[in-house]
Amino acid sequence: MGKILVTGGTGFIGSHTCVSLINAGYEIVVMDNLCNSKVESLARVSLITGKNPRFYKTDLNDYKEMCQIFEDHKIDAVIHFAGLKAVGESVKLPLTYYHNNISGTINLLKVMEKYGCHKFIFSSSATVYGENNPVPYTEDMPTSATNPYGYTKVMIEQILKDVCTSNSDWKVISLRYFNPIGAHESGLMGENPNGIPNNLVPYIAQVALGKLDKLHVFGNDYDTPDGTGVRDYIHVMDLAEGHVAALKYANSVNGFEAINLGTGKGSSVLDVVKAYEKACGKKIPLEIVARRPGDIAESYADATKASEVLNWKATYSLEKMCTDSWNFTKQNPKGL
Ligand code: NAD
Ligand code: UFG
Repeated sequence: MGKILVTGGTGFIGSHTCVSLINAGYEIVVMDNLCNSKVESLARVSLITGKNPRFYKTDLNDYKEMCQIFEDHKIDAVIHFAGLKAVGESVKLPLTYYHNNISGTINLLKVMEKYGCHKFIFSSSATVYGENNPVPYTEDMPTSATNPYGYTKVMIEQILKDVCTSNSDWKVISLRYFNPIGAHESGLMGENPNGIPNNLVPYIAQVALGKLDKLHVFGNDYDTPDGTGVRDYIHVMDLAEGHVAALKYANSVNGFEAINLGTGKGSSVLDVVKAYEKACGKKIPLEIVARRPGDIAESYADATKASEVLNWKATYSLEKMCTDSWNFTKQNPKGL
């Protein structure tokens, strides 16, 4: 069996997936340009698994260096996490986002085609369901976006469909993640954003650490049970296991398939605050402020397809996600 190339493998979801892949017996090769992560996360992967995956510090857009990876290793499949992911930043830097995410993916697909590697698992997002679909989201709903980041996911999915039409050797799974949070339970790996976090749980973690004063809750006048935004939070290790299941399933895929990875259950901002307070044993001070532009009231998955075709289901509770996030945060107060 060939190896699995993990792009973006030093990032948050990629590094956790490396652990699951190694534990499932796969041999992996990791590439990342380290623009949003540190190579230390691979040292943590090694500490947890006892294996030292080969690492390439390379940019997706570097055709020659990407080819070199395929020259050095027989790659059986690619799991493609590498990409920029900050919604607000994408509005300010659209060309950077389109170049990095879309051109980078096209370059990777060209290299794969050259080396006859056609198994591809892509990190898509629930953001492709846009603003107008009713929850829970099913994979057959129309996709759309409201910002350049979201458009990169919508467009890459279209490119992948077209590539599959052009050559029936391709086996492509687009995994649409809902809201990944939590950390490996060892506390050795977790989410490590630069600067002030944009996302809810990393922000709460910094408040719990005492680095930030209070959480700003973006609106409590949504049409939801307590008025705050509802999301489908999923433990990053559940998500990691979803990739192992997808890799197995990819062998029987013909062409393009989209699959949601979520729990199917929505939690409000206040539910998350309560669970985090329980996990860290502290009060999280908060203030209700205006809605954040671009936010929707509710987003959660219909998780039926993943359980049917991947034989995979999320297993961890919101409490466990918060406990593991806090465990990582307090063991690594300055990040990795
Ligand atoms: P992350 O930033 O921790 O990981 C992405 C990695 O890609 C980083 O290590 C970064 O250095 C690397 N990278 C970016 N551009 C690159 C390039 N041109 N060449 C090489 N490496 C490059 O983010 P994450 O949360 O682990 O997300 C992984 C993937 O999942 C992304 O594609 C993201 O859009 C998608 N996703 C994330 C979420 C989420 O909430 N975290 C939700 C849905 C989808
Ligand atoms: N929220 C706050 N205060 C904060 C941060 C967030 O109240 O400081 C609220 C938001 O309004 C939202 C919820 O917490 O109701 C979750 O917000 P996040 O920023 O954590 O996550 P989003 O659902 O907005 O977005 C995430 C990723 C996107 C991805 C999307 C769908 O950041 O990249 O999930 O997968 F597109």
